[in-house]
Amino acid sequence: MRPYLAEYVKGEEAVGVRYIGSKARVAEAIVDLAGELDGGRFVDAFCGTGSVAAVAASRGWPVTLNDALPSAVAMAIGATVGRHNVPFARLGSYAQAIRDLNAVPATPGFLHAQYSPASSATAPVERRYFTEQNAARLDAMRSQIQAWHDAKVLTWLERELLLADLLQAANKVANISGTYGCFLKDWSSTALHDVRVRERTLPPRLTDLKVVVGDVSLVPTTAADTVYLDPPYTKRQYSAYYHVLETIHAGDSPEVGGVTGLRPWKDKASDYCYKTRALGALTSLVANTSARRILLSYSSEGHVPRAQLVDALTETGSVTVHDVKTIGRYRPNAQASAAGRTVNEYVIEIVPHGARIDLAQPLHREEVA
Ligand SMILES: C[S@@+](CC[C@H](N)C(=O)[O-])C[C@H]1O[C@@H](n2cnc3c(N)ncnc32)[C@H](O)[C@@H]1O
Repeated sequence: MRPYLAEYVKGEEAVGVRYIGSKARVAEAIVDLAGELDGGRFVDAFCGTGSVAAVAASRGWPVTLNDALPSAVAMAIGATVGRHNVPFARLGSYAQAIRDLNAVPATPGFLHAQYSPASSATAPVERRYFTEQNAARLDAMRSQIQAWHDAKVLTWLERELLLADLLQAANKVANISGTYGCFLKDWSSTALHDVRVRERTLPPRLTDLKVVVGDVSLVPTTAADTVYLDPPYTKRQYSAYYHVLETIHAGDSPEVGGVTGLRPWKDKASDYCYKTRALGALTSLVANTSARRILLSYSSEGHVPRAQLVDALTETGSVTVHDVKTIGRYRPNAQASAAGRTVNEYVIEIVPHGARIDLAQPLHREEVA
């Protein structure tokens, strides 16, 4: 299992954030299903950290990103931009921007007041997401990015890249066990490190990138596109589980409450997270998406049983199911195997009625219709 673990770690390091439902481990195999570049775009419509879009961009696909969460879109931008997308002409260079951010002195602000032990002054508990020093440095770096933005020295993409770097930096020192659904009672050793933003190595290219932030139903697609859909499949709402990243990205001061300091999130509640709505939402999304080919990731642990999903989607086009554990380089992880759990992820490929394509021959196809 060692080679697999190495790949797993590398996959997550590439996007820098542990994210529920991340496809970092299987992104290459998923993009294999898209076949050769065909003149259309690769649309990652629930992009999350952008792990799949990043592979598509590295293979030369023009990429469209979308997510309901602005913080996720920023992370995906960080994972897909090329060096020529973000010249940092007004600040000198990307490296200079990172150096300047790391040099900004700590200045306590909203993150310090709500998400460090300083919160005990106003909150029902002492919140331990960040040490006081790290929270105040995150506040200061966020303000600096805002000041650059207000002074118009950053393009929008440059600002989003720096915010992605800030989210990664925050994540590295967050005192959590994976999500921001709760913080740890005792400080983890990584939470005690000094927070630092890091310059990522950007590929020497200009990625053809379109970015949309919002509900998936609003993403523009054409009949030439390959559309990748990776919706939530359990009740876990990303807007609640990643609320601190949303606040760092927004740089705002919302009314927060409770033990975890949750910001208002219900306006971002996703239909895909409700058992009663998931099947209808998935079917209507696929039926209303223009595409040459749709790739839908889902899991046997999801709200909708596989057979029911395949049956419903067969109405919209010709359907092939690819078992993720058998495609590409994917192997179930060592811990899950040891615990006797199998990971049953699959990708449903739909060629909408009316679309004509020459299907590449991926491995282990299971013909359904
Ligand atoms: C399973 S995750 C995607 C993971 C991603 N493929 C990755 O590798 O990081 C699902 C994503 O869908 C987003 N989402 C949920 N409901 C949405 C909606 N109605 N419209 C757009 N995005 C939505 C969530 O914010 C989350 O980032």
